[in-house]
Amino acid sequence: MLNILLLGNTGQLGWELERSLASLGQVTAVDTPAINLAEPHSILPVIRQANPQVIINATAYTAVDRAENEPGLVQAINAHAPGLLAEEGARLDAALIHYSTDYVFDGTKGCPYNEDDTPNPLGVYGWSKLSGEQAVLQAGGAALVLRTSWVYSLRRDSFVTKVLAWARQQPALRLVTDQVSGPTWARALAEITALLLARGGSDPVGWLAERRGLYHLGGDGYCSRLEWGQAILHLDQHPEEQLTQTIAPALTVDFPTPARRPLFSALDCSHFTQTFGLQLPPWQTALRLAMEAG
Ligand SMILES: NC(=O)c1ccc[n+]([C@@H]2O[C@H](COP(=O)([O-])OP(=O)(O)OC[C@H]3O[C@@H](n4cnc5c(N)ncnc54)[C@H](OP(=O)(O)O)[C@@H]3O)[C@@H](O)[C@H]2O)c1
Repeated sequence: MLNILLLGNTGQLGWELERSLASLGQVTAVDTPAINLAEPHSILPVIRQANPQVIINATAYTAVDRAENEPGLVQAINAHAPGLLAEEGARLDAALIHYSTDYVFDGTKGCPYNEDDTPNPLGVYGWSKLSGEQAVLQAGGAALVLRTSWVYSLRRDSFVTKVLAWARQQPALRLVTDQVSGPTWARALAEITALLLARGGSDPVGWLAERRGLYHLGGDGYCSRLEWGQAILHLDQHPEEQLTQTIAPALTVDFPTPARRPLFSALDCSHFTQTFGLQLPPWQTALRLAMEAG
């Protein structure tokens, strides 16, 4: 049975990971305040005490707009801390699975990004996540960096829960048509993480070491925020509560935000599928399952 250390088990992804990983072995799950990734001295004791075979880092500073005002803190959590995790993992001969984001790209490519495309983040969050990827991979251990996109769950604030709430308050919604990516259900991402670990059998560290590197892993297909919103309202389990009659198209420039976001940041996940023989479901299928699960 595997000894797994999961960091960040209250977040969208981490909460699902704790459940998906449970059948693989012993999962030690820690979150703030037991560990604070902004404080490097709090990290190593947790790892050494758990002495894991696999570390899974589901923590991140994910407030994209607030990040613009706290670049030092964001860099500490999203870049320095993952680097430390990777170095300590390599020292202990433990594998590390770390997640990154489509926001490392500037969104100008016009078709799905693959792992060879050059990142060019537009904001503090994206830069910090890119630095984190580099720090993890430079440490040289058995590390996977899984870049994902538009992560949602129904149990924590996400685009899905926001659209459902707006639909109960507003007769007309305006959603942007020019931001396009692949919605990714946190549960599906957690389950595929557990599946790929299970494929490593009795030697997951050696197995992951042979496949170490960067992979794109987002919900299959892509859509605009408006198309995503339409699908959410269509799949709403309580449509009788909706006040919304129309969803009108808008543009990103209509809603100024502190951080710029990439416009087209869908990920080409074929390298992951070819390597692991796994893929996330089409985003529409995952959304239906998520809405039915509640
Ligand atoms: N959300 C998205 O749309 C999206 C898109 C692409 C990629 N990603 C990536 O996917 C991964 C998972 O994201 P998510 O959406 O699940 O994030 P999330 O829901 O915001 O959860 C983040 C987790 O990190 C923890 N955390 C934050 N600051 C911390 C600190 N200083 N020390 C220790 N833990 C800390 C949070 O704990 P508290 O709850 O206690 O603060 C929470 O458990 C991240 O790597 C993220 O960058 C997310």
